[in-house]
Formats: sequence, C-alpha cells, structure tokens
Amino acid sequence: MKTILITGGAGFIGSHVVRLFVNKYPDYNIVNLDKLTYAGNLANLKDVENKSNYEFVKADIVDGEAMLKLFQERQFDGVIHLAAESHVDRSISNPTEFVFTNVIGTVNLLNAACAIWNGQAEGKLFYHISTDEVYGSLGEEGMFTETTKYDPHSPYSASKASSDHFVRAYHDTFGLPALVSNCSNNYGSFQFPEKLIPLFINNIRNNKPLPVYGKGENIRDWLWVEDHARAIDVIFHQGKVGETYNIGGHNEWTNISLIKLMCEIMDRKLGREEGTSEKLITYVKDRAGHDLRYAIDSTKLQKELSWVPSLQFEEGLEKTIDWYLENEEWLQNVTSGDYQKYYEGQYQKR
Ligand code: NAD
Ligand code: DAU
Repeated sequence: MKTILITGGAGFIGSHVVRLFVNKYPDYNIVNLDKLTYAGNLANLKDVENKSNYEFVKADIVDGEAMLKLFQERQFDGVIHLAAESHVDRSISNPTEFVFTNVIGTVNLLNAACAIWNGQAEGKLFYHISTDEVYGSLGEEGMFTETTKYDPHSPYSASKASSDHFVRAYHDTFGLPALVSNCSNNYGSFQFPEKLIPLFINNIRNNKPLPVYGKGENIRDWLWVEDHARAIDVIFHQGKVGETYNIGGHNEWTNISLIKLMCEIMDRKLGREEGTSEKLITYVKDRAGHDLRYAIDSTKLQKELSWVPSLQFEEGLEKTIDWYLENEEWLQNVTSGDYQKYYEGQYQKR
C-alpha cells in the first residue's frame, strides 16, 4: 500500500486532486497536509473525509523540522505539492508571505524528501504543481511551451518560478526524482471567491459592482479544475522524472468577454431581464504589473500522455455557475469566515 502526501489539499485545486485520488485509488493512503490558511477549507472534502484511505494533517510547510519529522514517520512514496499562496493581488500587498510559503516551504519539502529517500528513491516521485505565470506575458501571437524562458512579473509568479527552479535544482544536484507541471487559469467548484470567476458570480448574485481591472482586455486561458486534476493523475503516474509538462485548455478569453458571458448566463438563471447584470460592470484601476496574455501549448502532454481537456468552456462555466448557486451555504460560510469553524468542530478530536 503506497502512502502519498498531497499538500494544500484543502484548497481549490488540491481538494479536487485529493477527491480524485481517494476515490480512484483505494489502495493508496492519501495524506492531505494543509495549514488551513484563509484559502484552506475542509468542508471542500466533506464527501471523502470519512474514507479509510484518507487522513488530514494540519501543518505548516514553512516549519522545516515538522516536515522532516512527518516524512520520517510516514515514509511517503510520493509527494504532490500544491500548497501555496496563490492569489496575485495578495502577493502585491504582502510579497514576503509568498516567499515563506512558496519558496521556503517548497525547499523544506524538498529537503525532507531528499533526507528520507536518500539512496532509496527508486519508484518515488516529488511532483510540484506550478503555474503558467512563470513564463511572463505574451503579446498577440504565440503560446507558452515547456521551453519558454521564465520571465515572472508579479511577486506570486516570481515565488512560483523560484520554487520551480529549486525543484529542478534538487533533481539535477541531488538526484531527487522530481517533475513539474505548469498550468493555466483554473475554474470550477470550491474556488475561493477572491478569484475572478467565483468573485463575480457572488457579486452578480448580490447585485454588487464587478471591478474590472484596466480595460478588461487581458487574456487568460481557462481550464476546468477537474481536467487539471485528471492531468495531475496522468502526470503523477506516467510522467517522466526530470520533465516539465504544460497543462492548458486552448481556451483564451479576454476578461471583458468572459465577464459579459457570465452576466448573460446569470441573468437567465436568476430570471433577470437581459442586460441587468452587465450594468454592474465597473472599470477600476489596473492591477500593478498586470500580464496581458497567457496561452498554454499543451501538445507535449496531449501527445506523450494522451491527456485532453474533457469539457467545453461554455458548458463548464454553466456547470460552475450552477454549483455556486446551488451551494449558497458554502459561499456564505466562506464569505463570512464561518468555514474556519469546520476544522475546530470536526477535526481537533482526531
Ligand atoms: P488555493 O489558494 O485555493 O489553495 C492553497 C492551499 O494551500 C490552501 O488550502 C492553503 O491552506 C494551503 N497552504 C497555504 N500555505 C500553506 C502552508 N504554509 N503550509 C501548508 N499549507 C498551506 O490555491 P489553488 O488555486 O488551489 O492552487 C493550488 C496550487 O496550484 C498552487 O501551487 C498554485 O500556484 C497552483 N496553480 C493554481 C492555478 C489556479 O488557477 N488556481 C493555476 C495553476 C497553478
Ligand atoms: O494562470 C494561472 C494563475 O491563474 C494561477 O497561477 C493563480 O494562482 C490564479 O490565481 C490565476 O491568476 P490570475 O491573476 O490570472 O487570476 P485572477 O482570478 O486573480 O484574475 C483573472 C483575470 O481577471 C486577471 O487578468 C485579473 C482580472 N481581474 C481579477 C479580479 C480578482 C479583474 O479584472 N478583477 C478582479 O476583481
């Protein structure tokens, strides 16, 4: 029986990865390590929390001693590392937190894996989940490939670029079996409503302004979170050690056209007159250092590991909007801060 460590499993993408692995691999012990920052919410995993192959550990990856102790105790066979500070706007107001978690936290995990797997790393894997933002910003043409030069602009992307470099350096220097994937913007259920899509769904529902940064002409390449989780599964099991894989949806939207589509769908679902929600659009000061365009070329993943996105964006967006409208309690708990009581009530007893 293999024991797999998933870090950041109480977050948006992590919770989808944990759910997929717990359900698909009953012969794996899945250990979800999470600090439960504002972005971590164990209610995201209600449906798997009592499964016998799932365990939650509350810990901070910035605590190097705790990481070493945990690796010594549990002898993990594999690590899927998602824990991070993930929001660009927060990295602009507090860059240091991003250095601690994303850089030092990652190095602590690498040190622990090296120490424990030393000389016996056969069949083990340290898999680091990263972002397309490390590649910087595109003009009108071209796409990011695995060989695009790193050119991060925000403190968030600089911290993720640094952690990617450390993972590759530990592979090259210490022989740590490691690989990295870089993914485009994810959307779907359980995303914290600070990111564009869930924030705007919540604001439209509550008739609040929709703050569009700059002219809304920036372009993002959107991928359904469950397709990202499937890609992580494929890469974890079939990816080549030392390699990098880009993951993306071939699905570029300017922010403003995406926002207008969301307004249209929400008017229909909420029984509002066409054009009502669009009136909430408010153009605000641009994000500092705002990257113009991201677009991922995922040909390598598609050709070598036969992964393809399963869902068309319009269908995925409808599904996502439906999920937030049907899960009002989840959204209210998250916006009120009540979700943090879930841990106190449920998990301290264990
Ligand atoms: P998220 O903010 O929703 O979740 C992050 C999780 O990490 C939370 O549960 C949080 O409690 C935990 N965490 C934060 N600091 C920690 C610490 N010091 N110790 C232990 N746990 C800690 O993030 P997400 O959007 O799910 O992103 C997950 C990963 O995927 C990140 O590494 C991010 O860079 C990467 N990524 C995200 C996207 C996206 O569109 N959201 C795209 C590509 C890559
Ligand atoms: O590309 C992958 C990245 O996607 C991940 O690595 C990050 O963790 C994730 O947060 C996301 O980063 P973005 O900055 O692209 O996502 P965000 O949802 O914050 O913003 C999407 C776009 O919408 C971006 O161009 C900024 C704009 N925006 C965002 C917010 C929150 C607005 O115009 N108004 C807003 O209020």
